[in-house]
Amino acid sequence: MPPQVSVSAPGKVILSGEHAVVYGYPALVASTDFRAKVRIEKINKGLEIIPSEANEIIKKGIENANLFLGKEIDGLKILLNSQIPIGSGMGSSAAVAVALAFALIKIIINKTTLEQVNKLAYLTEKFYHGNPSGVDVAISTYGGYLWYRKETEDFKVFSKVTPNRKLTDFVLVDSGKPLESTKEMVSFYVSGYYKRHPQRVEGIFRNIEKVTKGFLRYILNEENISIIDLIRENERNLESLGVVSEFTKELIRKVEKLGGAAKISGAGGRKGNSGIVLVYHKDEDKLKNILNKWKLIFMDVKFGSRGVTYEKNS
Ligand code: MEV
Repeated sequence: MPPQVSVSAPGKVILSGEHAVVYGYPALVASTDFRAKVRIEKINKGLEIIPSEANEIIKKGIENANLFLGKEIDGLKILLNSQIPIGSGMGSSAAVAVALAFALIKIIINKTTLEQVNKLAYLTEKFYHGNPSGVDVAISTYGGYLWYRKETEDFKVFSKVTPNRKLTDFVLVDSGKPLESTKEMVSFYVSGYYKRHPQRVEGIFRNIEKVTKGFLRYILNEENISIIDLIRENERNLESLGVVSEFTKELIRKVEKLGGAAKISGAGGRKGNSGIVLVYHKDEDKLKNILNKWKLIFMDVKFGSRGVTYEKNS
């Protein structure tokens, strides 16, 4: 058993297909350069977690690891350090679940496979999100770009995508943390809407699927397709699904008036804010100047960073 291990896992941005992916439609997702780091050290006995705000997710991750591996372990100091905004659609809890799963498997049985990490992290993600598609933990495990489909609870099909064009003109704008959790948006709000109006919601999901396939062809450079039209259409469908707040819609309309396009990414939010908004504009400097004028918080992002990996001990 190694005396210590340090690992990191990336957060994500869903390029297209959020919510629909919970119902078996495809999603196209990219990892980002925002990462969660977990360091585990063997200590004599007990469990120390730093910071204590991470107690719940880490204890759940350990409980799942013990069940998954059929082995119990005592005497761990676990340190978490994440750059991923929490509860904003960037896969922060998934990245923590993945980094923790990887580090625990390494500490407990000293060898890991990504398949094991993905499965174990999915159990922890389920505890948090009730009925996740699994796309967030899969991208955090494997990194890069994934085409992902959940066929059944235990059978998920995904494939790495290698883009044939650079996805560089994107900025993440923070519309603010949603009042609702991902669990509420997925298992309460969208699922309630689906139960009341299955045909209407299936129609929205089919439209989203068309956009997701268009996005795939765009990044593979197979077709001269307008990325602006794709993102705008995607956003309109998410608005029809009711997962975008009024404040966020206003923000997105302003970006559209400037000639850009924007969509929420992840579960969204209805009442207040909707988390991170993925904004595309050909003239990034012009966009940034205006975002500054509007006093909006934005972040540069790089897509496609590597999945869960060892970090140098520090
Ligand atoms: C959350 O990042 C994406 C959702 O589609 C939920 C899921 O896929 O588990 C909203």
